[in-house]
Amino acid sequence: MEVIIQPNPEIAADWVSRVIAAELRARPETVLGLATGSTVESVYARLVQMCRGERLDFSRCRTFNLDEYVGLSGSDPNSYRHYMNQHLFSKVNIDLRNTHLPDGTAADLAAECEKYERLIAGVGGIDLQLLGIGLTGHLGFNEPLSAFRSRTRVKALSPLTLVQNAPLFSKPDAMPRRAITMGVGTILDCRHCLLLATGADKAEIVAQAVEGPMTSMISATALQLHPRCVVVLDEAAASHLKATDYYRWIFENEPEWEPFRSQKQGDIPS
Ligand code: GLP
Repeated sequence: MEVIIQPNPEIAADWVSRVIAAELRARPETVLGLATGSTVESVYARLVQMCRGERLDFSRCRTFNLDEYVGLSGSDPNSYRHYMNQHLFSKVNIDLRNTHLPDGTAADLAAECEKYERLIAGVGGIDLQLLGIGLTGHLGFNEPLSAFRSRTRVKALSPLTLVQNAPLFSKPDAMPRRAITMGVGTILDCRHCLLLATGADKAEIVAQAVEGPMTSMISATALQLHPRCVVVLDEAAASHLKATDYYRWIFENEPEWEPFRSQKQGDIPS
């Protein structure tokens, strides 16, 4: 794992979007794993800008989202399909047939989960998985006690997740109590994981995820097992970490990050 600390949320999101853009430019047929939530909205806004202004090409890439609410169809404004269409897919030159989310309205949810795993395997796996982190430490909707070897399945949402996400629903009581989510094992199989967290409310869970002991009570601690995982934070989200001097030193000295080192937004070559 590497931890990269940027001065503010905008620069952190810009940094993440530059990494995704570099991957897309190097391999236009890349398979991207995508996430939802307010944190990654600015990543998508930046990717849209790059598609329009810098000819970033999405026409050949394939995407798989982490999760979808059970019972919400893609046309529901609170569904993650709707979120993805609104924030990214309708604004870039992606072929919608290459974009995948689990179907939360499937009659047979277990079969839908197995189908999703097969679809991912069928394209050779996910190259780069974008992640956020929930207040429970969940990745996707892998709530506390999700097995590190879990695969795509239905999970009941925790009370804390209901508190965090219900305000996004026009009728908070209408928030589904369950979701289909890639498993922790599915996420660990991705070739490269890129987690973005910003803001002081994430500082404590980020510190536990990065520096705490691995535990299925906090799914994000499983990322400590991943051979290529980068955690990108703003100063506020990094504020409870103990070894920040070490993380900054690594970032300054790893040749891999040379093109990404500039601190000023807009200076970073794509
Ligand atoms: C939802 C998603 C997660 C995401 C989380 C973070 O719960 N299922 O994949 O990480 O939101 O949300 P936010 O960025 O709004 O804090």
